[in-house]
This record gives sequence, structure tokens and C-alpha cells, in this order.
Amino acid sequence: MIYNEKQEVSNFLPIFNGRGSLYKIQIHRLFETHPDVQEVFMPFKGMTKEDLQYSNQLKTHALRVMGTVDKCLARIDDTKKIQEMLHDLGSRHVMYNAKVDYIDLIGPQFIWAIQPALKEQWNREVEEAWSDLFKLISQLMKTAMTF
Ligand code: HEM
Repeated sequence: MIYNEKQEVSNFLPIFNGRGSLYKIQIHRLFETHPDVQEVFMPFKGMTKEDLQYSNQLKTHALRVMGTVDKCLARIDDTKKIQEMLHDLGSRHVMYNAKVDYIDLIGPQFIWAIQPALKEQWNREVEEAWSDLFKLISQLMKTAMTF
């Protein structure tokens, strides 16, 4: 069931907002000090052989995912805009034939990729914050993908 999540999302938005500086500092630091992180995303676990053939595309896609994180941060004070943006992104993913079940794979992959670069800053709280952000992103995308 996807939506009961409406409740969860609206609960989460203020938390996301409160964590704004944490995400901003980390993502910008990451881009400055570790541009290679953008290349780090590996083919997603659990995908089929055919999916893996497109791993170059997946690497490029990692940049697009980063772009989405950046857009969320840029709109941190306008949660309605975040919702609209992610809803539209979800709709476009239906056209890309992205399976709903795969959407949840991106967050752990992203966290796996950024963790080494943020070594001394990394702790359970930080991990939870990033995980919550991706939970929000994927929940909002998925609402536009399930009818
Ligand atoms: C958190 C989850 C995801 C985010 C934030 C995300 C983000 C994006 C963005 C920003 C684009 C650029 C085009 C556009 O804005 O419409 C894009 C394109 C695309 N995405 Fe995703 N995506 C996610 C998950 C997935 C998954 C799970 C798949 C498939 C397994 C997928 C497949 C594609 C494809 C095929 C394209 C178009 C071709 C390309 O640009 O590489 N996406 N995605």
C-alpha cells in the first residue's frame, strides 16, 4: 500500500526542512572534494542482466539523481514545490518504464556511494537523515507511478 504514506510524508517535510543545513553542507562538500563520487554509483543490486547492460546509463543517471537532491535542497523552504517536482518526476518515470519497486533501490545506493567521502562526519544520525530524504523522494515519486 503506497498511501498511508501521505501522512508520513507530511510528517517528514518539517524534519527535512530542519535538517537543511546538514544536507547542504554535506552535498556541497561532497561535490567539491569528491567529484569522483558522481561516478561511483554501481549498477543497482537486484537488477536483471538486461538492466545491468545499461550500467553506463546508470552512471549518468546517478548524476541526475544528484541533481534531484540538489533541487530538493534549493526548494527546501517550499515543500509544495518539492512535492510537485517529485510527483512530475515520478510521472516521467512511468514513461521511462522504470518499475515502481526499483525506486526504493536508489537511496541505499546513494548512501553507499557518499558514505566513504564523508567518513569523519558519518554517524547513525547522518545516515538516518539521508535515508529519510530518499524515503521522501521515492515515496513522492511512487505516488505518481501507482494508480
Ligand atoms: C530516487 C529515485 C530516482 C530519481 C531521483 C531519479 C531521477 C531522474 C532524473 C532527474 C532523470 C532525468 C530526466 C527527468 O527529469 O525526467 C531521470 C531519468 C531517467 N530515469 Fe530516473 N530516477 C530515479 C529512479 C529511477 C529508476 C529506479 C529507474 C529504472 C530502473 C530510472 C530510470 C530512468 C530512465 C530510463 C531515465 C531516462 C533516461 C536517462 O535520463 O538516463 N530512474 N531519473
